[in-house]
Amino acid sequence: MMFLLNILLLSFLNLKVRADIFYYQPEQVHLSYGKNVYEIVVTWSTFNDTKSSVVEYGIGGMILQAEGTSKLFVDGGPERHAQYIHRVRLADLTPDSTYVYHCGSDLGWSAQFWFKTPPDNPNWQPHLAIYGDMGNENAQSLVRLQEESQRGMYDAILHVGDFAYDMDTQNAYIGDAFMRQIESVAAYVPYMTCPGNHEEKYNFSNYMERFTMPGRREDPFYSFNVGPMHIISISTELYYFLNFGLKPLVFQYEWLENDLAEANLPENREKHPWIIVMGHRPMYCSNTDKDDCTHHETLTRVGLPFLHFFGLEKLMYDYAVDLQIWAHEHSYERLWPVYNYKVYNGSYDAPYTNPGAPVQIITGSAGCKEGKDDFIPAKPEWSAFTSSDYGYTRLKAYNSTHLHLEQVSDDKAGLVIDSFWIIKNFHGPYKYSMMDWNKLDNRRLEKLTATA
Ligand SMILES: *[C@@H]1O[C@H](CO)[C@@H](O)[C@H](O)[C@H]1NC(C)=O
Ligand SMILES: *[C@@H]1O[C@H](CO)[C@@H](O)[C@H](O)[C@H]1NC(C)=O
Ligand SMILES: *[C@@H]1O[C@H](CO)[C@@H](O)[C@H](O)[C@H]1NC(C)=O
Ligand SMILES: *[C@@H]1O[C@H](CO)[C@@H](O)[C@H](O)[C@H]1NC(C)=O
Ligand SMILES: [Fe+2]
Repeated sequence: MMFLLNILLLSFLNLKVRADIFYYQPEQVHLSYGKNVYEIVVTWSTFNDTKSSVVEYGIGGMILQAEGTSKLFVDGGPERHAQYIHRVRLADLTPDSTYVYHCGSDLGWSAQFWFKTPPDNPNWQPHLAIYGDMGNENAQSLVRLQEESQRGMYDAILHVGDFAYDMDTQNAYIGDAFMRQIESVAAYVPYMTCPGNHEEKYNFSNYMERFTMPGRREDPFYSFNVGPMHIISISTELYYFLNFGLKPLVFQYEWLENDLAEANLPENREKHPWIIVMGHRPMYCSNTDKDDCTHHETLTRVGLPFLHFFGLEKLMYDYAVDLQIWAHEHSYERLWPVYNYKVYNGSYDAPYTNPGAPVQIITGSAGCKEGKDDFIPAKPEWSAFTSSDYGYTRLKAYNSTHLHLEQVSDDKAGLVIDSFWIIKNFHGPYKYSMMDWNKLDNRRLEKLTATA
């Protein structure tokens, strides 16, 4: 009896002395490219309203100041977990420089971070780390990526969908924990993303609100130029979550076609000859997990059921996309150049030298609580190399003709388990040879890309 009274008394006192906790301190700091590689957006969270959003930054010292805005983001879960997401743009950055910065307000600053800007030079060779499907639990590749990013190995990261597992889980506290985990990567290098199926909850709001990608805030797609690459990021999920309607899918398809046509204008393709598309769910895969690509025609490849509108394979073939990067399968798979199940090797000995169709890889093995995916024993003709090791991909664009990719195995202590060059003397439509292409004048090309 005495004991119970004590407990009651204690909990009463506890209630009485419980004070408000204030969260003005910035956290979950991450970077992304703005309208070009000389504009960096800093995004971070505070749980209380700091009234202002400021980044102090500069070369050799924090002598400059930029102001942005914050927006209240309320998760859709029962707790209505709320946070202020701050965004500040650092525009007109000086090329080839190391900037230091911190972010916050007069209620508190973050730790100091740094980032590098690329040289203003057509010979810049951007180096990217690429992966999908990294969770809060079992984020196998994260430690290596943190070390490599802070050593300055990469210019940018591409995270090809599926974050945290899931960002909305437990009233979005999993999302917060994940964004804190990646801070030691993403506060140093632009962290460029696309949405995956794990972001679907509450209309993808945890994804849309937490990241700041180029383009319009409300669109889950965008494109940007990095050295010789034009990288396009799309949402494959618009093909699968049709409960949000058909309109977003149609809108994305039209945007994508326009973006591809523009990227193919001779003056653009000359500057950024490599057209690379990233999206979460692959069109092909040879995994055993009975997912869309092993057992069905993928909607992204052939378009909607029966009508076959808005299929992406033909569009990307017609507009001469060089490389497609997918994830979703928790493994790594490299494909021979393939179009409609047919392999179009450049030549037998050098399949990726002037290939006759886009090259595709699937890199979804960064590590998450769902573990790894295995492969079917009968390897399809289009499948070149597979690995279920945890790991990630590195891509280096050497110049307009040479692109290098390699797969890092985290299981094998960082060993490179696959590597290949894509070599292209010609970046036009696959149905034309280099000679045909050179004969086409700009006006005819514009028409061609507009009607392809
Ligand atoms: C500060 O944030 C915490 C956590 O979200 C919340 O419980 C509290 O009400 C907020 N305080 C103020 C003054 O807004
Ligand atoms: C989902 O979010 C997008 C913005 O990303 C918005 O345009 C759309 O109206 C939302 N749809 C629904 C059904 O809430
Ligand atoms: C493509 O090239 C690879 C590597 O030489 C070869 O193993 C494969 O059989 C080729 N496929 C076709 C259809 O020629
Ligand atoms: C492009 O880079 C590759 C790999 O470094 C090199 O072999 C090739 O000569 C370069 N091509 C041009 C045109 O500079
Ligand atoms: Fe996925």
